[in-house]
Amino acid sequence: MSRSFSQDTFESIPSPCFVLEEEKLMCNLKRIDLVQKNAQITVILALKGFAMWSSFSLIKSFLKSASASSINEAKLCVDKFNELSHTYAVGYVDNEFDELMKLSSHVTFNSLNQFHKFNNRVPTHISMGLRVNPEWSDVAVDLYNPAHPHSRLGLTRQSLPESLPRNIEGLHFHVLCESSAAALVQVLQNFEKKFKKYLVNIKWINMGGGHLITKEGYDVELLVNTLKHFKNKYQVEVILEPSGAVAWQAGFLKTTIIDILENHGSLTAIIDASFTCHMPDCLEMPYKPEIMEGSQDSEKYPFRYNIGGASCLAGDFLAGYSFLKPLKIGDILTFQDMMHYTMVKTNMFNGINHPSIGVIRRNHKFKLLKTFSYEDYRDKLS
Ligand SMILES: Cc1ncc(COP(=O)(O)O)c(C=O)c1O
Repeated sequence: MSRSFSQDTFESIPSPCFVLEEEKLMCNLKRIDLVQKNAQITVILALKGFAMWSSFSLIKSFLKSASASSINEAKLCVDKFNELSHTYAVGYVDNEFDELMKLSSHVTFNSLNQFHKFNNRVPTHISMGLRVNPEWSDVAVDLYNPAHPHSRLGLTRQSLPESLPRNIEGLHFHVLCESSAAALVQVLQNFEKKFKKYLVNIKWINMGGGHLITKEGYDVELLVNTLKHFKNKYQVEVILEPSGAVAWQAGFLKTTIIDILENHGSLTAIIDASFTCHMPDCLEMPYKPEIMEGSQDSEKYPFRYNIGGASCLAGDFLAGYSFLKPLKIGDILTFQDMMHYTMVKTNMFNGINHPSIGVIRRNHKFKLLKTFSYEDYRDKLS
């Protein structure tokens, strides 16, 4: 993977530290903006996957707003993005709803129960929508598949009445995850088959996230043509709300080896960070991130190690990385593509400190933005 900064800059970064590479974020935003302009659609940032708010001023020069899935994300949207949020939550709670409406331009309900409970508390200037489930997805892992059988995410065709409630202006679906444009084509075929008759009075369709527009090889032309065609056919505003594509390969987690252990011939390098605390998707999905100093292919280089997190969870390790030379305590391991679904999902299990957060600016200089301390751990508890 290319590195646009010097060794001195890299060495000035503390360990452990999440580091955003602003130039790479900008490249992603330009590509997304091209889709937005060519297809004449609106793209907003889904905060659930990437909420590093110090980058919002840059993101805002390309994307109009953000989507929130809780009152805290909606507050962040207003506070740091300076825009009202497109709000969708699986369930709204009574004591937050009125405040949430002050922070939102759009609100989408996950069920008719929730719609009936709250719709008369939605001010008239807020556009209301329903989340529907097209019941098709290319996502193989159920944990990440919103269309798995018996999913709780969105109304199925069977659970909708013959016509939509009068004040519903939008429909929302989200069934993709790191998917291709061809997968969206298939989702739309299923969506149209099931929900076409409801589109007559609809003003907007939010097609969720999971469109990995910024991955090399993604068929941008197919996406643009598909969206243009859909928009013209139904005369609706089309909204996409990616997280992953915005922050895709736009930064890393720098860590340091603090110990090396041997057990029946297998070696584990322990780092000053943790998979379960700081890179939970590696264990949940699961997947094996690339590292700058070696390979995630256990056969590529002669020296094979597991990499272990610093927590006491038995499964806090990834097996089978390989290196050109034996590792030693103090060596740096840099995990790639660590911006999306990392910082938003971290925890302080075992009291393990959160990695610092920093950025490599477009002038290729590093700036440390935040460090964490005992007080952050203490103040999370009572
Ligand atoms: C409703 C909704 N919108 C958008 C997203 C963002 O998806 P991605 O990061 O894959 O683009 C998600 C992710 O879970 C989601 O649930």
